[in-house]
Amino acid sequence: MKHTDIKCLLTSDEFLGKEVTLCGWVRTSRESKTMAFAELNDGTSLKHIQIVIDRENTEYPATALRLGTALKVVGQVVEARQGGVEINAKSIEILGECPPEYPLQKKRHTLEYLRTMPHLRVRTNTFNAVFRVRSVMAGAIHNYFQSRNYTYVNPPLITGSDCEGAGEMFRVTTQPFAHEYKNEEEYYANDFFGKKAGLSVSAQLEGEVAAMAFGKIYTFGPSFRAENSNTPRHVAEFWHVEPEVAFADLSDIIEIAEDMIKSIIGEVMEKCPEELKFFEQHFEKGLIDKLNSIVSEDFEVLDYTKAIEILKESGKEFVYPVEWGCDLQTEHERYITEEVFKKPVFVTNYPMDIKSFYMKQNPDGKTVAATDLLVPGVGEIIGCSEREADLEKLLDAMKKRGMNEEDYADYLDLRRFGSVPHSGFGLGFERIIMYVTGISNIRDVILYPRTVGSIR
Ligand code: 4AD
Ligand code: MG
Repeated sequence: MKHTDIKCLLTSDEFLGKEVTLCGWVRTSRESKTMAFAELNDGTSLKHIQIVIDRENTEYPATALRLGTALKVVGQVVEARQGGVEINAKSIEILGECPPEYPLQKKRHTLEYLRTMPHLRVRTNTFNAVFRVRSVMAGAIHNYFQSRNYTYVNPPLITGSDCEGAGEMFRVTTQPFAHEYKNEEEYYANDFFGKKAGLSVSAQLEGEVAAMAFGKIYTFGPSFRAENSNTPRHVAEFWHVEPEVAFADLSDIIEIAEDMIKSIIGEVMEKCPEELKFFEQHFEKGLIDKLNSIVSEDFEVLDYTKAIEILKESGKEFVYPVEWGCDLQTEHERYITEEVFKKPVFVTNYPMDIKSFYMKQNPDGKTVAATDLLVPGVGEIIGCSEREADLEKLLDAMKKRGMNEEDYADYLDLRRFGSVPHSGFGLGFERIIMYVTGISNIRDVILYPRTVGSIR
């Protein structure tokens, strides 16, 4: 069906005075005795276009202007009295009827209510804006890496090794339940892959393989975590951006992470001004100022040990008490980013015992060259580290965690054959979209959220 995108009609002069065909869904409408008006949206822009109907001279079906109805309109593009353009309708055809019980009525629905209808909520202004920002940001991520000699690689989603070692892997199996197996090993040996398999929690290990050949790589795809955390920041299936860079130490990768965040936010600001204005109005006052300072000011870099000192001296009563060696909880992260620094903070050099096996061990014997990027309102958006390039130290860390060397044979080979210092990070794509839009629940920035006890 040949037609013109509403975005083009609204943003280009070339259509003025011309007859065009457009398609879309009715978002609002009103009829008087002689005139009728409908706002049409086809999803290409946040703004709707107004269709003006001279009722005395234009025939149209009685149900055409009901909310949610899909229409094809032919008409002339004219200047609107309030500025911009509108369409003087010549003919109106219903493509899809929409009865009055359509759940999206004119009033503003809460995000919680809209979550009960993931198949319809995408037709609201909020989700129109969220998913355009998401799409533009995905493009910006590719642009960032592609223009800097990174190779985009596609790692497997089904894997035999748990990268984070946190026991949060979903199992992948074709095995029916059976009592006859003597032990787990025998059970898995009979399974599709002949061993235990699961959905990848991170592409890092395969990313490191690729980086040892292509130097700079990135992956951008889903990761899966069977975490039993019912929070506004966790989903079981999230999109993960994971660059891996050879010949880079922790300070190099911190620089890259900061530069990437600034660049992709800058691109969204340039390409989605309407959407950001909408979020500023409805979700986070001061959003645009916040984004401006993110792109123009340096992020903070704070040693973990110093962070613990700050927390202890804060005089705050935290639910989780603070001691050197403890993992930072949401309340601690919020205090540091929202009350102390009021900007993104890289917390560096965490205690070895609370972090993953692959992180480079610092000379102090207690900490690792790792960093989390914490931001106000969301918390951790990036997990990052320099990798342990020394085979002996890596084996030692695995032994301490009771890991099976055989499962990581390929990974260990990387330390035998031309090992180099290298670093990488994982950015939670939904988390940064929350940060940029001011939407406070991760379930509202992904098409179909997967969370504990909920799937549809
Ligand atoms: O900190 P994480 O666990 O780090 C890794 O997986 C590393 N292997 C990454 C790497 O170095 N290549 O996860 C990275 C980021 C987190 O900072 C967070 O933003 C996001 O992934 N993330 C989640 N996002 C949504 N829901 C979840 N359940 C998430 N778990 C992690
Ligand atoms: Mg982390």
